[in-house]
Amino acid sequence: MNWLRVAKARYVTRKSFILFLLFTVCSLSVLIGQSSKIRQLKNLVVNRRGLKAAPTADVDQENTQYYAYIPVPRKTEEFFDDLSPTVYVITPTFRRPEQIPELTRLGQTLRQVKNLHWIVAEDAQVLTPVVRTTVEKMGIPYTLLVAPMPDEYISKPGHKPRGVSNRNAALQWLRSNNITEGVIYFADDDNSYDLELFEEIRKVKKVGMWPVGLVTKFGLSSPVVKNGKIVGFYDGWIGNRKFPVDMASFGVNLSYLSKFPNISMPFSPGYEETGFLRALNITKDDIEPLAENCTKILVWHTQTKKSKPAEKAAGAKHNNTNIPFLLDQIL
Ligand code: UGA
Ligand code: MN
Repeated sequence: MNWLRVAKARYVTRKSFILFLLFTVCSLSVLIGQSSKIRQLKNLVVNRRGLKAAPTADVDQENTQYYAYIPVPRKTEEFFDDLSPTVYVITPTFRRPEQIPELTRLGQTLRQVKNLHWIVAEDAQVLTPVVRTTVEKMGIPYTLLVAPMPDEYISKPGHKPRGVSNRNAALQWLRSNNITEGVIYFADDDNSYDLELFEEIRKVKKVGMWPVGLVTKFGLSSPVVKNGKIVGFYDGWIGNRKFPVDMASFGVNLSYLSKFPNISMPFSPGYEETGFLRALNITKDDIEPLAENCTKILVWHTQTKKSKPAEKAAGAKHNNTNIPFLLDQIL
């Protein structure tokens, strides 16, 4: 019957139209909800971190280049909370076969820590693309800087002031962006870090210290603590240093650091730590013994085995295989 077919067709059309309408309304409301949630999260990060806008590239130290800054990490809510001060981890690094594995390991540790900003400062003439991609993929807030060791130290025989120009570039970057809240920590790229360490660093009110494992022939460098007070230092090489400690053994609160606008690390091999700490105008009494009164080792000076540059032995028979791609990625 013709009228029945028409009615059926109409009925089906109306039914699918209603269904279509319902589906559209639901999807739209989900979409609107999502985008406002994303907007909220972005604002949250910017506000929580007290950064109204991304810091500028105004690093005026000669030889220093500002490169990149990402204020909003991939999984925003995982990386920030309201309560704790931000830890600014300053990592000097330089090109060598172990560099990318070191930065990968360190970055994968840091991405598990909340309220953390990673400043990776390269001792290089220009930023190394693979360093950038390695740091970026961690999905945490970061800054990349480039500050090569000055020529006068490169050509000088003997020990070199390793990582000094680049650490200084990081201090300069913090200053030029008026970052005066949080705690700084110098984390070399070749150490091993317990996640608990970063929660200790956060506690630093002025200058805090803790033990470091695998340093010198003593296998340990630590403040000596008696009745809750630092009374001396235990280290395999005292070397007439006022503060015979390792670079990984201390953190400084930025509100205190910012009282010393001209502070920098000296280019004196072996005396970088003590020189920097002396410039902070502190005595043993001012230093906070952390990591449960310096009874826990939460960082180790592991020193990765050095690898020789690879012999790139691929011949023509490897053309059109994966090998040329791999060779481009190693040193
Ligand atoms: C020890 C301390 O742990 C360092 O913090 C200190 O700077 C160094 O001694 C020193 O007094 O010279 P060590 O393990 O002997 O460190 O030195 P490296 O690990 O080779 O270098 C320390 C940091 O500087 C690393 O993050 C490294 O990547 C970086 N570095 C090293 C450079 O940026 N440029 C270089 O030419 C060499
Ligand atoms: Mn090292």
